[in-house]
Amino acid sequence: MSIQKTLSIIKPDATRRNLTGNINARFERAGLQIIAQKRLRLTKLQAEKFYEVHRERAFYDSLCDYMFSGPIVVQILKGEDAVAKNREIMGATNPANAEIGTIRRDFGESIEHNSVHGSDSQENAEIEIRFFFSELEIIE
Ligand code: CMP
Repeated sequence: MSIQKTLSIIKPDATRRNLTGNINARFERAGLQIIAQKRLRLTKLQAEKFYEVHRERAFYDSLCDYMFSGPIVVQILKGEDAVAKNREIMGATNPANAEIGTIRRDFGESIEHNSVHGSDSQENAEIEIRFFFSELEIIE
């Protein structure tokens, strides 16, 4: 057990339905602290860069188009085992397979429009945090 930071994204399907506060409440209820947060709209190029690891996957183009189709909220969550805890709160990638009470099960529309993204490891959390936030924006 250790105090970690992880990157979370509230995706366009969730901002469109005004779910930002509802999703944030779930993180805070589970003991995660939102130590940085901003709403922005990615360019196509930025979406492609962020999801570069998926470049070879069949869903890559559609995923990138979707991620710049509307506003997103990017945030840093901090707390005990934040990477794993956030993944638990989000639920499985496909909302149809996610546990009841998870964000993706309750709000996700499809495997692509699955409301939230969360870093999958501490190493990727550091890379993803650096992608979106400067040192000055992280107030601990
Ligand atoms: P995310 O956690 O943001 O990481 C990569 C994203 O790709 C994932 O959530 C899904 O939104 C999307 N994704 C993963 N698998 C598929 C798939 N089979 N079809 C469409 N989108 C997918």
